[in-house]
Amino acid sequence: MTAGLPWAAPVVPLDTEVEALAAEWVEPYSQVEHLMRARDWLVHLHPGATVEMRVAAMTHDIERMFPGGPVLRHADGNWDDPFYLFPHSLRSAVAVSMWLGALGPVSAQVSVPEVRRLIALHEVGGRQGADVVQAADSLSYLETLAGLTREWVLSGTCSREAAAGKLTYTVERIRVPAAREPAGQWLVWAMDQLPASDELAAVGEAVR
Ligand SMILES: [Fe+2]
Repeated sequence: MTAGLPWAAPVVPLDTEVEALAAEWVEPYSQVEHLMRARDWLVHLHPGATVEMRVAAMTHDIERMFPGGPVLRHADGNWDDPFYLFPHSLRSAVAVSMWLGALGPVSAQVSVPEVRRLIALHEVGGRQGADVVQAADSLSYLETLAGLTREWVLSGTCSREAAAGKLTYTVERIRVPAAREPAGQWLVWAMDQLPASDELAAVGEAVR
């Protein structure tokens, strides 16, 4: 957890029943911190964020919790590959709308089509709040998944150059001006997490 850094968004309490239930639902997901921090960043960027935007932020990647989803080819470094990003986004949108549909009366606290739309657009942004959800995802990625990006390099999943490209892409795709400054700070911080060339050489020696 990195939220203690001075430029991190404050944690936003769960104040609706549907958000409390969504938090329970995503709890077993290995990247749950990334989802919950996306919600915190969303509210930080846009204090008037709707409950649909908040639910979308805290569930946007959840299809990865279920086997059988699209596979990201890390080694290529094609981080904006639409043949990954679109199936990923749409599969999450469908999973969340099915989960909301099964909730019963509580689901009336949100517009299910609106949550679905925002999740479907979370990688690319869009109108009416979708850009802010995407910016929040980007900031949360830098804050919570820089360590994972570092692990990709150490494990040989992708090159250091490709990992740096992922971090840069995460910032460059942001369309909300207010998110650019914190994203620039987080980019420097996240880049520093990537292994230096001497560290990579030492890892190479160890596995040889
Ligand atoms: Fe995400």
